[in-house]
Amino acid sequence: MMRLPFYLDCDTGIDDAMALAYLLASERVDLLGVGSVSGNISAAVGAANTLDLLALAGRDDIPVAVGAHDFLAHEFHGGATHVHGENGIGGVVLPHAQREMEKESAAEMIVRLAHAHPGELRIIAIGPLTNLALALRLDADLAALVHDVTIMGGAALVPGNVTRVAEANIHNDPEAAAEVLAADWFVTMVPLDATMESTIEADDRDVLEASNHPVARAIGAMLDTYFDFYVRFFGRRTSALHDPLAAAIAVGDLELGEAPVVHVEVDTTEGPGRGQTICELRYRFLGHPEQEGAHCRVVLSVVEPFTPKLMAAMLRL
Ligand code: RIB
Ligand code: CA
Repeated sequence: MMRLPFYLDCDTGIDDAMALAYLLASERVDLLGVGSVSGNISAAVGAANTLDLLALAGRDDIPVAVGAHDFLAHEFHGGATHVHGENGIGGVVLPHAQREMEKESAAEMIVRLAHAHPGELRIIAIGPLTNLALALRLDADLAALVHDVTIMGGAALVPGNVTRVAEANIHNDPEAAAEVLAADWFVTMVPLDATMESTIEADDRDVLEASNHPVARAIGAMLDTYFDFYVRFFGRRTSALHDPLAAAIAVGDLELGEAPVVHVEVDTTEGPGRGQTICELRYRFLGHPEQEGAHCRVVLSVVEPFTPKLMAAMLRL
């Protein structure tokens, strides 16, 4: 099978770690680089977690660049350690990778890879969109060079997870999200509408912990912390699969359910709507699903269960 060129932008993060594992296991993916951004934890810690996970997977060949520490209009203030643990990966201590980060920034890496693979590079962004916005500012031709962008972020018809209306990745840097959605490239947005419907359960975690593979075992251990957080949402020890679902959709591994291509606007005001992704979904009442000039596909649902695919990927690493 021909491998396609991908760049991953992440804030590693427990579900980011699962997304990374999913991509590493895929025969369709040539992961050319990974950039970190502040979000769940600082960009520096996220990059270190990524480097260590890649080492554990025997993939020291994949370059890692540190990305933006602060957001476009606000400083980073410590992240979501109450969700992902103090070190971002549920307190799991990984063996330290024996190599350095790249000298270039994540934004520079995006621009470099897009020029090296014109029309071919697929970008997956599963943290705040700061690096992508900075890359667009670095190179006016970037959008035209990129094949497409898949983001985990937003909430279309469901509540937010950090405010009543905003999802964490978009809420962390709404200005960046607005720039990324305004750029002239095709974006697939995977919001909470879809990701809260895919969960990984306690018996899946047991299987991971019993695995022979160190990455699967480490993810199994991390999930204990993620379950601690999600128990209040679901009433059982489980967690949503935000980032790996977006990764699988980017690779084309899942049949999409309702996934209209529509106009999406991000609220960048300082009011209660800050970070909301306002999606033009009135076609549901009015008909006319086509919207002229729209280039954002909003994935409201997927058809098939995703967890078995994710489990199989993590176990075959
Ligand atoms: O809202 C969920 C998203 O925020 C995921 O990407 C998670 O890793 C955090 O970044
Ligand atoms: Ca993330």
